[in-house]
Amino acid sequence: MSSKNFKRYTVTSALPYANGPLHIGHLAGCYIPSDSYVRYLRSRGRDVAYVCGSDEHGVAITIKAKKENKTPQEIVDRYHEMMKASFGEFGISFDHYSRTSAKIHLETAQELFKNLYDKGEFLEQVTEQYYDEEANQFLADRYIEGTCPKCGNEHAYGDQCERCGTSLSPTELINPKSKLSGRTPILKETKHWFLDLAKYTDFLKKWILEEHASDWKNNVLGQCRSWLEAGDGLQARSMTRDMEWGIPVPVDGAEGKVLYVWFDAPIGYISSTKEWAAEKGIDWEPYWKDKDTKLVHFIGKDNIVFHCIIFPAILKTQGEFILPENVPANEFLNLEGDKISTSRNWAVWLHEYLEEFPGQQDVLRYVLTANSPETKDNDFTWKDFQTRNNSELVAIYGNFVNRAVVLTHKYFQGVVPVKGALTTHDLEVIAELEAFPEKIAASIERYRFREALGIMMDLARLGNKYLADTEPWKVIKTDQQRTATILNVALNIAANLAIVSEPFLPFTAAKLVSLFDLKHIKWDDAGSADLLKGGKALGEMGLLFDKIEDETVEKQVQKLLDAKKMNEAENVPVPVMKDVITYDDFAKLDMRVVTVLEAEKMPKSKKLIKLKVDTGLGHRTVLSGVAEHFEPEFLIGKQVTMLINLAPRKMMGIDSEGMILMAEDKDGKLKLLQPHEGTASGSTIS
Ligand code: 2FM
Ligand code: ZN
Repeated sequence: MSSKNFKRYTVTSALPYANGPLHIGHLAGCYIPSDSYVRYLRSRGRDVAYVCGSDEHGVAITIKAKKENKTPQEIVDRYHEMMKASFGEFGISFDHYSRTSAKIHLETAQELFKNLYDKGEFLEQVTEQYYDEEANQFLADRYIEGTCPKCGNEHAYGDQCERCGTSLSPTELINPKSKLSGRTPILKETKHWFLDLAKYTDFLKKWILEEHASDWKNNVLGQCRSWLEAGDGLQARSMTRDMEWGIPVPVDGAEGKVLYVWFDAPIGYISSTKEWAAEKGIDWEPYWKDKDTKLVHFIGKDNIVFHCIIFPAILKTQGEFILPENVPANEFLNLEGDKISTSRNWAVWLHEYLEEFPGQQDVLRYVLTANSPETKDNDFTWKDFQTRNNSELVAIYGNFVNRAVVLTHKYFQGVVPVKGALTTHDLEVIAELEAFPEKIAASIERYRFREALGIMMDLARLGNKYLADTEPWKVIKTDQQRTATILNVALNIAANLAIVSEPFLPFTAAKLVSLFDLKHIKWDDAGSADLLKGGKALGEMGLLFDKIEDETVEKQVQKLLDAKKMNEAENVPVPVMKDVITYDDFAKLDMRVVTVLEAEKMPKSKKLIKLKVDTGLGHRTVLSGVAEHFEPEFLIGKQVTMLINLAPRKMMGIDSEGMILMAEDKDGKLKLLQPHEGTASGSTIS
């Protein structure tokens, strides 16, 4: 582990895609840990640039835009503002929040690409990719759907089958179809610029697997190892795409192509820093180029390869950039036992949480840290949320601070009493108190936020125990001076709690800082029982945390279940369009309006109804598989649509002389296709 003293810190959190609102998975993944880290660094007086921004390019955005019939720009404008607001509301204290559609970002990303190009770092390769001839465009992987060769799922994407989880390439799909037009795409040649990652293998192995073997998290090292030690080595990756939405590739012969979103997104950290520095009137370069700067990327586990392999390779070849000292990636947070999913609406959305739990941001921050997916996937449940609030925040932290403050108001008119002689017990408690800030700091510096939070709560426990052991409510009856000492010590523990809990519970800490007037007290002052001097008047304080009732969390669980039901009903996929046919093919079908004369259930069949219909050309017998949808009596007299030139087919010993046409709902219900007013039997349909 690097024991170097750094002059400054550049801390980044993954740029979230601007294609939907934020949910608890985002917060738990990388925004709460990075914010806690940065708040701690600032309290220690360190020079920090904490940067982020919206990731506004890539297929995720264009798909969302298409689905909502909007332009990609309209989509990113909406969600950029929404995400920025949510981060602010939850106290994620970025120094700067930018966006990748900013001009400075386009310039920065193009400059880095051009540098690599000029240095001859790219392999130019012509490959065959799927192309939609009707939409006149190459198809990104997510725009191709087909049958998974592994499990037979007919709706697998070009890059992955979501049913069986297999990674796929578009050409592996059976019967591929364009999601834009429904047509079968053709393979067409296209040129792209590939980063030859194999070239960097030795450097990456040394830098990650040797130099950082002891300070990077195991989950991160594990993934890096499997990339770097894979049998066929690191594969070249295309850094360009055939798309309209994105940053144009700044080289000749690349018209109509844009930078791959994963090329430009991490560069967003640099452009965000540039914007921030320009606003402050300082130089951005030391934050990215000075060896005394500690660069830390907070991300989720799905971003590891981009931050540990591809982006460092890009930075390294630029020449002057520093590399990350650490990339603390979290695993995933699940929700009530199921994967969080935006498309399935299985999520706790931050804007909705705030409506339902106003002013309770710290409760969510606390629960997401206490249950952080730091080393393995974890589960958020509303029951656990309630328990942690009621049994920890209310019963331990809130209860302790509240008792110390209320008793001070009761016995000393809200003025911190002067302490007198300390007992051995007092001295032991104070000695314990002194060790807390360093213990918490050591965990935070190792990115162990759950552990740090647990230690912070132990300080609140220490305070609670101190009050329970010393019983000032009894002592006051006989010894006011001793009571003064006890409350002075207790209030000082609470003041320390305000300082060391600020990285985790910033809203609560702010209340205590104002109550105790601690504005100028920082981390390095903590650990002292003299933060609050006798004679200081306390400000006002309400309850820090409210109890959460059973019915409140039950309502939240029900809301999730309702959303799931609704989503299941809405999300049955509409079948992909069949192959295009010619007019001549269509003209072969002879469809007519016919009138049902007789209808009866076929004996021994659950599905079939035998119909006699008037086709205008004569009477016909037709067997139709509609018995589970209609009563025979309902059909008699109805005018329906029929394909009359389908070759007769024998079923259960009867010739069926045509086919009644029906519409089939997403849920499999059949509906008759009828003319909107009476029509002569035998009328043609064209
Ligand atoms: O996975 C994601 O949500 C990406 N938008 C993260 C980008 S991180 C960085 F590279 F900007
Ligand atoms: Zn599959």
